[in-house]
Amino acid sequence: MNKNFYITTPIYYPSGKPHMGHAYSSIIADIFARFKRLEGYEVLFLTGTDEHGQKIQKEADKNKKDPKKFCDEISETFRSLTKTLHLSNDDFIRTTEPRHFKSVNEIWNRLTKSGDIYLDKYSGWYSVSDEAYYDKDEIEEKNGKKISKTSGSSVEWVEEESYFFKLSAFQKKLLEHYKKNEDFILPKSRKNEVVKFVEKGLKDLSISRTSFSWGIPVPENKNHIIYVWLDALTNYLSALNFPNIADDKYKSFWPADVHIIGKDILRFHAVYWPAFLIAANLPLPKRVFGHGWILSDDKKMSKSLGNILDPIEVIKDYGIDQLRYYLIKEVSLGNDGSISMKNLKNCINNDLANNYGNLCQRVFSFIKKNCNNKIPKKSNLSESDIKLIQNIKNNLPKLIDYINNQNLNEYIKMVVNFSFEANKYFNDSEPWAFKKKDPERMNAILYTISEQIKNISILLSPIIPVSTKKVLETINLSDKDISIENIKKNDILDYNLELKNLDILFKKIENDN
Ligand code: MSP
Repeated sequence: MNKNFYITTPIYYPSGKPHMGHAYSSIIADIFARFKRLEGYEVLFLTGTDEHGQKIQKEADKNKKDPKKFCDEISETFRSLTKTLHLSNDDFIRTTEPRHFKSVNEIWNRLTKSGDIYLDKYSGWYSVSDEAYYDKDEIEEKNGKKISKTSGSSVEWVEEESYFFKLSAFQKKLLEHYKKNEDFILPKSRKNEVVKFVEKGLKDLSISRTSFSWGIPVPENKNHIIYVWLDALTNYLSALNFPNIADDKYKSFWPADVHIIGKDILRFHAVYWPAFLIAANLPLPKRVFGHGWILSDDKKMSKSLGNILDPIEVIKDYGIDQLRYYLIKEVSLGNDGSISMKNLKNCINNDLANNYGNLCQRVFSFIKKNCNNKIPKKSNLSESDIKLIQNIKNNLPKLIDYINNQNLNEYIKMVVNFSFEANKYFNDSEPWAFKKKDPERMNAILYTISEQIKNISILLSPIIPVSTKKVLETINLSDKDISIENIKKNDILDYNLELKNLDILFKKIENDN
């Protein structure tokens, strides 16, 4: 069985500070990457920055900076965000790196060789902010300004010589691919949008610009800069040392298992990207998953709307696991979701402090007080103890299936419920009542609940890696022990070892409104 897994985030425009929407795409991808590692997969998790094009050049000009210098600085804030968010990315790609130039050149040459590129003149609407071309029926006028109906960004009329990609010739092939590969685009609602769009007919795509210079030149005509989306999408191959297709990285990880993206960039990933790849005679990624938007005041967060929630501020005030957990719990993956400080606080208190945090803390302090700080060995488990332990193990295939279908909400619901049940078990079985009259029973309860804490912590580790690491260290498990295999096994805890100290995991937040 192929045990490699390649997952990517969108590469972000370093045009301004990273915001919650960027953090969201990255956290989602990180959760899947971490889970596949738990399953024993060799994972390649890629993120990075998309640094070419008119949008970046304009922003650099505005800041009176050389575009490369400008990108160096802002790209660094995205790189540092990967640390703040505790992303487990294996690579961080920048489209200004030489490895990426090589790979974009090769893609261009392959498209030329296949006869899918021709020179003509483009005249139409272009949004610099979206780096996207729009048809007449995709724009509207608001307050005397022409804007894109979908993104609301302003568009300008562009007329210039341009190379075109024969996208129109790929309609049939794309539709066939969507049909044959049911899960190529998820969620289903997004797939339907794409299919409808392609069914309407595809126009050839302008893939070079001449009115600015910040980008990768067309190999045979340096007056032209390669369209930033053709450039950017290729990053997924550049990180695998493409064009060297004999390279181990390419051989092990292409085609990608899943590109995690926001729904606003679905067309680029589910229409243009597969068409480019078919033309270049390369395999297509297995899946494109388009998540919804994080809304603030019910609007998409964006620099131009000025409603940006800064992830770094939230992390400073509440903690990284708290933010990761909240975003995943609150927003149904695939749909838009509003976030608010009030709900964040409630979520921290109810789910993290009162449920999982409380479970760990009260069990460990009980063991400390009553069992010399050592988890008792397994003995004489009752039927209900066995049932509780078995319940998680029996549900593993379901949990794996949820993750493989990007059904994070069902996953988290089930795991939180395990934690809720474990708390209830601890209350109802009253180990304190058995300390004198039946210490063996007390030990069986403590064994059972410790198993549950271990297994719940492993399952929560992709979502709240910092806190679960602390809990697992308390029971003397290190990173290498954190695996799905070790949920299946009993007795992996070393019962002779003393528990380490565990500080408060999640501070309760006072609700001031
Ligand atoms: N550079 C392109 C992607 C190229 S991928 C080959 C781009 N960059 S971006 O910085 O504008 O956005 C990157 C991702 O962040 C997109 O997937 C976008 O959907 C996501 N988000 C930006 N704002 C968002 C929200 N408010 N909510 C959720 N995600 C959104 O597009």
